[in-house]
Amino acid sequence: MKLDVLLGLQWGDEGKGKIVDVLAPKYNVIARFQGGPNAGHSLEFNEIKHVLHTIPSGVFRPETINIIGNGVVIDPVIFMEEIKELIDLNVNIRANLYISKRAHLILPSHRILDAASEAAKGKTKIGSTLKGIGPTYMDKTGRNGLRIGDIINPGFKEKYDFLTNKHKELLKQYNFEFNIDEYEENWFKGIELIKTFNLIESEHEVNRYLDENKLILAEGAQGTLLDIDFGSYPFVTSSNTICAGACTGLGVAPNKIGNVIGIFKAYCTRVGSGPFPTELEDIDGETLRKQGHEFGATTGRPRRCGWLDLPALKYAVMLNGVTELIITKADVLTGFESIKVCTHYIFNGKEIDYLPYEVNEPLKPIYKEFKGWNEDITQINSYNKLPKEFTDYIKYIELQVGVPIKIISVGPNRDETIIR
Ligand code: GDP
Ligand code: IMO
Ligand code: MG
Repeated sequence: MKLDVLLGLQWGDEGKGKIVDVLAPKYNVIARFQGGPNAGHSLEFNEIKHVLHTIPSGVFRPETINIIGNGVVIDPVIFMEEIKELIDLNVNIRANLYISKRAHLILPSHRILDAASEAAKGKTKIGSTLKGIGPTYMDKTGRNGLRIGDIINPGFKEKYDFLTNKHKELLKQYNFEFNIDEYEENWFKGIELIKTFNLIESEHEVNRYLDENKLILAEGAQGTLLDIDFGSYPFVTSSNTICAGACTGLGVAPNKIGNVIGIFKAYCTRVGSGPFPTELEDIDGETLRKQGHEFGATTGRPRRCGWLDLPALKYAVMLNGVTELIITKADVLTGFESIKVCTHYIFNGKEIDYLPYEVNEPLKPIYKEFKGWNEDITQINSYNKLPKEFTDYIKYIELQVGVPIKIISVGPNRDETIIR
């Protein structure tokens, strides 16, 4: 059996959490492969509205096994809070959650380093979620990191002290005030909690599941345009958010990848700094933010909003080998008299139809305009009942991108989903 991958094609927050929860009953296993608590994946069903950060979005489906893969970075404090909230919701979390021994730990001092580094950057800051993601992946690639497997070995505390002291030395250069004592106390409580979970060699487990013909969905975090290699560097996150990240983040060979499910919003949002060619700083942007409740699920920051960007979407489809598309938040476009889609950019006086290396330089979007619709589409459950203006929009995107749109999400709830 091959492993399917679901990932974001924009700057994150495409609705991955909702869709993974919708698709989870079709799979035996949901596995996160990169990122950490910088992610905020929202799910809504029955009367429950919940945001997950580290834990895979299959957790509300009792039959589903959830794996935190080796590519993920874990903050024990945030993990502990997530577990508490899930227990309060009567989720039998202990039975179905496995954690890779190879996943790296976010130390309290990684968080401080993240904050100090951002403060020192001033206006050029990345707009990090300040969860310690960058410094943790730096220690991973610098071969200094601490892993989940270390916590059960003697000598863990010495390793922790060694790395923390190194960070404290580094922090002297930043002239940054901090106090990690309180966070540290909770951090060690979180470590004790993690020890009570199933800590596994997830690469063996995942490949065994595939050999047994079990169905696995790898759940991406962030989005393609935040990828460390292909995003708008340096305004990116510190992991490979693209499909290749599922191979390294779970220990799955490229020839074991099956469907690649790419998810995008019917418009664009970005939270944090960095280029955003189709950003709207006018009333339309304000309307998208308001109607789409575009405020960060992790930090609460208002998300920047703009029209759909086709050259960027095509770039993401190419990098990931997307085999099927999912469009979300189409309902947010209801009521717009006209809807725009960027088809090209003007760059250095020339028209181009691709996202160039110079993404941090001004790219002027050229738009194609579509007629809007006024019908409430949130209760529609079949494609044929959607307004013609909207299906015209969908057909155009499919034609341009060359990949079918298989699912249309028309609201945040599990049920507000049209499967074609
Ligand atoms: P993720 O990080 O990709 O999982 O996305 P987030 O959860 O950060 O942000 C998506 C937001 O949009 C959440 O508040 C979801 O509840 C909400 N959402 C998801 N799909 C839809 C949709 O089709 N329509 C509307 N209106 N909201 C949606
Ligand atoms: P989900 O999984 C949206 C953004 C931050 C910042 C940049 C680097 O919910 O889609 P980091 O904390 O990784 O150092 O921040 O990346 N960012 C996200 N934006 N959704 C996310 O995750 C994000 N995770 C990080 O805002 O611009
Ligand atoms: Mg999110």
